[in-house]
Amino acid sequence: MSPSKILFKLSGSIACYKACNLISKWVKEGHEVQTIATEAALKFVGASTLEGLTGKPVYHDLYEPGKQMAHINLVKWADLTVLCPGTANTINKLAHGLGNDLLSSLFLAHDFSKPYFIAPAMNTAMFQHPATQAAMKKLESWGVRVLPTGEGRLACGDIGEGKLLEPELIAASIEQVLSKPLNIAGKRLRFLITSGGTEEPIDGVRSISNFSSGRTGVEFAEYFFDQGHDVTLLRANRAMAPTKPVEQVTFKSFHDLDRQLKDQLSNQKFDCVIHLAAVSDYSVDHLLINGEKVAPGAATKFSSDHEITLNLARNYKIVDRIHQYSSNADVVLVAFKLTNHASEEEREKAVLHLLEHSLADIVVQNDLTEVDPENGRHAAALYLGNRLTKRVEKKAELIRSVEQLVLERLKD
Ligand SMILES: Cc1cc2nc3c(=O)[nH]c(=O)nc-3n(C[C@H](O)[C@H](O)[C@H](O)COP(=O)(O)O)c2cc1C
Repeated sequence: MSPSKILFKLSGSIACYKACNLISKWVKEGHEVQTIATEAALKFVGASTLEGLTGKPVYHDLYEPGKQMAHINLVKWADLTVLCPGTANTINKLAHGLGNDLLSSLFLAHDFSKPYFIAPAMNTAMFQHPATQAAMKKLESWGVRVLPTGEGRLACGDIGEGKLLEPELIAASIEQVLSKPLNIAGKRLRFLITSGGTEEPIDGVRSISNFSSGRTGVEFAEYFFDQGHDVTLLRANRAMAPTKPVEQVTFKSFHDLDRQLKDQLSNQKFDCVIHLAAVSDYSVDHLLINGEKVAPGAATKFSSDHEITLNLARNYKIVDRIHQYSSNADVVLVAFKLTNHASEEEREKAVLHLLEHSLADIVVQNDLTEVDPENGRHAAALYLGNRLTKRVEKKAELIRSVEQLVLERLKD
């Protein structure tokens, strides 16, 4: 990251002590850091510590004599703003446009051509509260980048999400976004990538699933993340997880994936959806146990002594609903068509059929005979609309080619 003027905002979390490490790191690297603290933040970290780390007094009082225009001037001064840690209270406050202290007044005066990052830190229940989740989505829709949280033991003793991301990872995420700005008409792109296989419950311990590992989804997600795009990975809860701090949401069953996809697409404005999830064509409608009809997924384990019959119900195609769910009418949809020992003619027919019912913009078609992860082979044919534009042999080539086609499509 080139030397920057960083407005570093702290709100009242126990994670303020960790934020000090980040401040210290950035000051040592030559950045100019001006801290702003809420009254609550100053109960967790002393003004002397913040001044000692940055060489500048901390700002906290909106009405401090001689500094009364700070709520405007600091916005003009800064190259980027980081709220770290971001408490549930402050995140909710910012999302509602309140400005009753210096930190929130500065947000109301924020110039959205400059980056604004939030690293949340709170107890899992506070993080998962619908108000906090809605507030983070709203802030993101305005262009604020809400970084993922870490998982693990929280200060309150609970284990779960909400823990402040480690300072090195916060720095890496911010540096990554800033160092590779990728502009399409001055915008960084937002990708939603689905990955892994759905699991259809039979009873409380058994399910029907498929062999999808979610690996390709992670590779796409990490590649786009490295390019500086905003990426949300909607992955099966047992699929491979990314090692980079990509935002993740998990799903289990077909209906769960459908619900989450709808939620993501209607509440956020994605530029592109890459739909890689292996979605079950059938869910369990009911079971016959010794001739008696039972609903699936009951929190029990049916005895293997029973005579069990599974009755499956055909699912609709989620891919057909992506355009309909999306709040962005211009979203670019990348769909995948895997064929099985198909001839060239059959492959093309399958692609045309997918295009017709899903309204996909780009289709990646591959055949089981040409995918061999052991030897790194991942042959695919790429279609932009119904035009075959490229054939690739390797996964890395596939990912780059999809990126090029997406960018091309977005320029139209
Ligand atoms: C010991 C302690 C730790 C706290 N840690 C957090 C936290 O990590 N995240 C959070 O959202 N609130 C936390 N709180 C609650 C906030 O400090 C409280 O909501 C406060 O009003 C936040 O004010 P601010 O957002 O203006 O800084 C904590 C409170 C205490 C007493």
